[in-house]
Amino acid sequence: MTTLENGPILSATNKSDKMDKIVSLCKRRGFVFPGSEIYGGLANSWDYGPLGTELKNNIKQLWWKKFVQQRDDVVGVDAALIMNPKVWQASGHVATFNDPLVEDKETHERFRLDHFLEENGVQVAGMTFEQMVETLKKMGLRSPKGNELTEPKKFNMMFKTNLGPVDDEDSKVYLRPETAQGMFVNFKNILGTSRKQLPFGIAQIGPAFRNEITPGNFIFRTREFEQMEIEYFVRPEEWEKWFEYWLDQQKEWCKEIGIFDQAVFIEIPEADRAHYSKRSIDTEFKFPFGQKELYGLAYRTDYDLKNHQEKSGQSLEYTDPQTGEKVLPHCIEPTWGVSRTFLAVLTSAYDDSDPENITLKLPYKLAPYKAAVFPLLKNKPELVSKAREIYENLRKDFMVAWDDRGNVGKRYYSQDEIGTPFCITVDFDSLEDGAVTIRNRDTKQQERIKIEEVRGYIMNQLM
Ligand code: GAP
Repeated sequence: MTTLENGPILSATNKSDKMDKIVSLCKRRGFVFPGSEIYGGLANSWDYGPLGTELKNNIKQLWWKKFVQQRDDVVGVDAALIMNPKVWQASGHVATFNDPLVEDKETHERFRLDHFLEENGVQVAGMTFEQMVETLKKMGLRSPKGNELTEPKKFNMMFKTNLGPVDDEDSKVYLRPETAQGMFVNFKNILGTSRKQLPFGIAQIGPAFRNEITPGNFIFRTREFEQMEIEYFVRPEEWEKWFEYWLDQQKEWCKEIGIFDQAVFIEIPEADRAHYSKRSIDTEFKFPFGQKELYGLAYRTDYDLKNHQEKSGQSLEYTDPQTGEKVLPHCIEPTWGVSRTFLAVLTSAYDDSDPENITLKLPYKLAPYKAAVFPLLKNKPELVSKAREIYENLRKDFMVAWDDRGNVGKRYYSQDEIGTPFCITVDFDSLEDGAVTIRNRDTKQQERIKIEEVRGYIMNQLM
């Protein structure tokens, strides 16, 4: 059976009209392209185009600024993607990072058992693997093609590869399925170099890989994606307080990026929690294709540090600088997916209430371009040169678009569709009065301001 399925281009979901419109806008305007498109695509692989790259970078920068740059108690790391395979033994991923799988006996098509049952009307929340197997048998379900299914089995989702030129068991390594372990294995290094005291956190943004059985819904579930994670280390007796604190922080983040109204916070029952978690609350989001997990929050106890301490033989205890008391810290982990944030932000921002003027009402901080500069007419060198001067000046501070095609109305629509908050037009009066017309994406209002005030006007609204 081939593992390199060609993906039908842009059939990301087809379950929702709004989703199809977003996918189409992403392709048309250069946010997200189907991966390897000139070769017919590769199933569930997506490339971020010029505007998507800006939006994604803005999400990551905002997150880093809020949770690392502006805090005294969180420091960053950027760990290797390929780690010693012993890390994944100790973390429990080799033994337990599994999804339940069933296979069509004739076509060999594979399905994630929990998703398959859900599609057949079963509420799987809280069910164990054994209960799902029993339900499948009781219902006598067959594959969508009407064929018999194999006995369900557990499928480990870690991507395997080999380090170096020899392809054998000894050279087997994994691509990391979560960024978190990069923080745990560096706990000792960071304690020794940053002199942080409990409570403190380690943050990381970077790629993670999972060999998902059923990826899909555009960029929602892919096999490679980026995470923004914090491992926040606390005294064991204080975990509840910090769990609540980080839940509030996740809510605040949702407000800051304009997605709170469609976010729902769900307590996860024990049977559905990750192997390391004693308590989990997921942030779910009302995506056009249904309410699904956006972020996670887990109380990982001392599960990771304890296992790494045992398996590595190195002490990972923290010594209180005042009392000399030794403690193995417990960990609260808030985690954010970058591409799911991207999709939630686009979903919330997409406004086609006027179908002639589709507007992406992105928070200004996240918009790919903060402003666009237009000379009223492109064949008038004096207008072009003044507009160019403003454009060059503004782009010292932020991303600015230049547009001199067609009429100004069309240019406005074009910028609205990609979420540019401000459009600045240089006209003949500008040459006389040193002022320009600045037009707001959301109110569509225009005002006249002095050229020297344009930068400050925009900067003030980006804060
Ligand atoms: N370190 C904890 C951890 O990895 P997780 O709930 O498995 O927890 C965290 O993943 C976040 O990563 C999710 O809430 C989601 O935003 C994102 N994520 C997980 N799998 C994903 C996938 N296949 N595609 C895109 N994003 C994914």
